[in-house]
Amino acid sequence: MGIQITPSMLTADFANLEAEAARISSADWLHMDVMDNHFVPNLTLGVPVIEALAKVAVQPIDAHLMIDNPDRWAPAYGEAGAGSVTFHVEAAQAPVRLAREIRAKGARAAMALKPATPIEPYEDLLAELDMVLVMTVEPGFGGQKFLDMCLPKIRRTRELIDKRGGDIWLQVDGGVSLETIERCAKAGADVFVAGSAVFGADDPDAMIDSLRSHAERHTEVPGAPG
Ligand code: DX5
Ligand code: ZN
Repeated sequence: MGIQITPSMLTADFANLEAEAARISSADWLHMDVMDNHFVPNLTLGVPVIEALAKVAVQPIDAHLMIDNPDRWAPAYGEAGAGSVTFHVEAAQAPVRLAREIRAKGARAAMALKPATPIEPYEDLLAELDMVLVMTVEPGFGGQKFLDMCLPKIRRTRELIDKRGGDIWLQVDGGVSLETIERCAKAGADVFVAGSAVFGADDPDAMIDSLRSHAERHTEVPGAPG
């Protein structure tokens, strides 16, 4: 699939989401951060907002659920029109069943890991997933500093995905910018969430292009030296 950029709308103007989406026509997805003030200490938006944006936006919606009890709530985001639904494995009771329910709604199923959650216990779960999200900040807020401690986990996740074969995407989220995207791409990420880097730029669409070309430049070609 190659490199994809999915701007986080958390830093966009919430009063004008349709117009904000139109400003970033080169975005592959719109990353929507759903926070319930339980799983994370912040509250944002839910199903009705995603449903409304999915109807008017050209880009598909990448819903990142930072909520308790995703088993109960996540499938509804697929029904609301999200093209990808990400649940946090720390909050899921039955991740296999949940991933299957999300796929049954016609959405891609993705699992997110907080910075201190290892990938290894979930290796067998990869068979049920379309994407793994490795968080590179503690979830809850935009504009935080990128955590370098997450890079080895990105590498280990890439190894597990490649070992399995198939087309599972590897997303990173948190503090991704022109300065840090290179490290993530080198470690094996291929889907990049960026909030403040995109919406803090004078020209968000141009920033997406720059992020993409930085990531592409630094993506390892299999078999190439170094
Ligand atoms: C944080 C969210 C992120 C956040 C990214 O919990 O999941 O998507 O909006 O924002 P930046 O790119 O500013 O770190
Ligand atoms: Zn997010």
